[in-house]
Amino acid sequence: MARQASRYVCQECGAVFPKWSGRCDACGEWNSIVEEQARPSAPRGLGTRQGAVIEFVPLAGSDADARRLASGIAEFDRVTGGGLVDGSALLVGGDPGIGKSTMLLQVAGALAGTVPVVYISGEEAIDQIRLRARRLGLGDAPVGLAAATSVRDIATTLESGAAPRAVVVDSIQTMYVDTLESAPGTVAQVRASAQELIQLAKRRGFCLLLVGHVTKDGSIAGPRVLEHMVDGVFYFEGKSGHEFRVLRGLKNRFGPTDEIGVFEMTGRGLIEVANPSALFLAERRDDIPGAAVFAGMEGTRPVLVEIQALVAPSPLATPRRAVVGWDPARLAMVLAVLETRCGIGLAGRDVYLNVAGGMRIAEPAADLAVAGAVLSAASDRPAPADAVMFGEIGLGGEVRGVGRPALRLREAAKLGFSRAIAPARGNGEPPAGSDIQVTQIERLSDLVAMFGAPLPAGDAGWPRRREA
Ligand code: TYD
Ligand code: MG
Repeated sequence: MARQASRYVCQECGAVFPKWSGRCDACGEWNSIVEEQARPSAPRGLGTRQGAVIEFVPLAGSDADARRLASGIAEFDRVTGGGLVDGSALLVGGDPGIGKSTMLLQVAGALAGTVPVVYISGEEAIDQIRLRARRLGLGDAPVGLAAATSVRDIATTLESGAAPRAVVVDSIQTMYVDTLESAPGTVAQVRASAQELIQLAKRRGFCLLLVGHVTKDGSIAGPRVLEHMVDGVFYFEGKSGHEFRVLRGLKNRFGPTDEIGVFEMTGRGLIEVANPSALFLAERRDDIPGAAVFAGMEGTRPVLVEIQALVAPSPLATPRRAVVGWDPARLAMVLAVLETRCGIGLAGRDVYLNVAGGMRIAEPAADLAVAGAVLSAASDRPAPADAVMFGEIGLGGEVRGVGRPALRLREAAKLGFSRAIAPARGNGEPPAGSDIQVTQIERLSDLVAMFGAPLPAGDAGWPRRREA
C-alpha cells in the first residue's frame, strides 16, 4: 500500500525536504517551508502491463509552420517571435503593479477583433476589469470576461463548446485545484494548476497566457518548475518613477529571447514606444561630466542609452561600487583594466554606475561606454556630446569588436550623433550614406587619452589619438 506521507516544500524555491525546518537549506529563506500532502508514490518500474504503441513521424513534416496569432501590438508581437502559437503556454512575470494585467487586457482586446478571446481573473472583480477596459478604450471589445479561481470550473467551461483561440489567466497564483489540500499560491497549487491549464491549452489548441507574480529575489513566485512547463517566459519590468516598461523574453520555444518590447504607461494604458532610443535619451544633459551614450543592441533592434558614472573620494576601507542596470562584476573588470593597463587609480574612490531611465543592459559591448562614463567622471570632463561609444574591453586592455556595428552607427546617426568611438577590429566601414565619423580605437588607453586628465601625461585634450 502506498503510504500517505507529508513532505515539506519551500515556497520560495520549491525544494522538498523530509522534515520541517525554519530555514530552507537550498535557498536560505526563513519560514518558507510548508507541509504538503505527498501524492501516493507511484509503483516502481513499469510492471508487466502493455502500454499503447506510439507512432513515429518523420522530422520533415508538412504541417511545420505553426499558426501564429499576431495581436497587432508590434512591441508585443516582436517579443513573442511574431505572435502567439496555437496550443502554447506563455508566462508573463513581473512585480505587482507594473502593468501585467493592463498589458494582457490590451492584448486580449486587440486579439478579440479577429478571434474569440477570454480573460479569466482571479485577482479582480468583473466591475474592476470593466472599469479598466473602459479606461483603456476597450469597453466594446468582445472579450469574454470571468472572475474564477477554480481550475476545475475553468477546465469544464473551456472543454465544452467551441474553444477560444486565446485565454488569459490572471494570475496563476490565485488558481487552485480542489484535489490538493494546500492553499492557492503555494508551490504545489501553482504547479498543479499550471499543469492542468497547459494540458488543456494543448488539447484544445488555444494560446494560454499566464500571469505570474515575482518574488523578492526576482524569480516568478512559485517554483522554477513553472518556467520549465511553459513554452515561453516573459518578464515585464520597469522602475518606479519611470513610465516606460520593457517586456523581455527569457525563454521562448517559438522565437528569439533577446528581443525587447518597450511601452510607456499612460493614463490610458500602455502605448508602444517604436523609438526607445529617443525616450531613453530624452532627459540627457550633454554638458555634465560622467555620462556616455552607449549604442547598444536589444535583439534585432539598436537602442541608445545613457550610461552615468559618479566617482567620489571614499571614506571606506573598501570603496563602494554600486551599479544599477548593469552587471557589477563587469564594472569591477572594467575598473581593474583601467587601473592595471591604463594607470587610472580608482582605489580609494567610490564608483557609482547607473543606466539612465531604468534600463537594464546585458551586452559586454557596453564596456567602452562604461569606461567612458567612468573616465569622464574621474577627469571631471564631459564626454563629447555628439559621440556614441560601443566596444568590448578585454583583460589585456584591448578593445574588441562587437556585433552589428553598422546598425548601431545608423541608429546613432538617426538620433543626431555625428561621431562614434568604436573598436578598430570587426567594425567595418561606417554604413553608406550615414555621415557619422568613426574614431576607431584598438586599446582602452586610446580612450583614456581622449579624456586627458587624470592621466599623469598631462592635458591631452579631445580628441587626441595615441599611437598604439
Ligand atoms: P496592473 O496592470 O494592475 O499591474 P499588475 O497586473 O502588474 O499588478 O497596473 C497597475 C498600475 O498601472 C497602477 O499603478 C495604475 C497604472 N495604470 C496606469 O497608469 N494607467 C492605466 O491606464 C492603467 C489601467 C493602469
Ligand atoms: Mg494584475
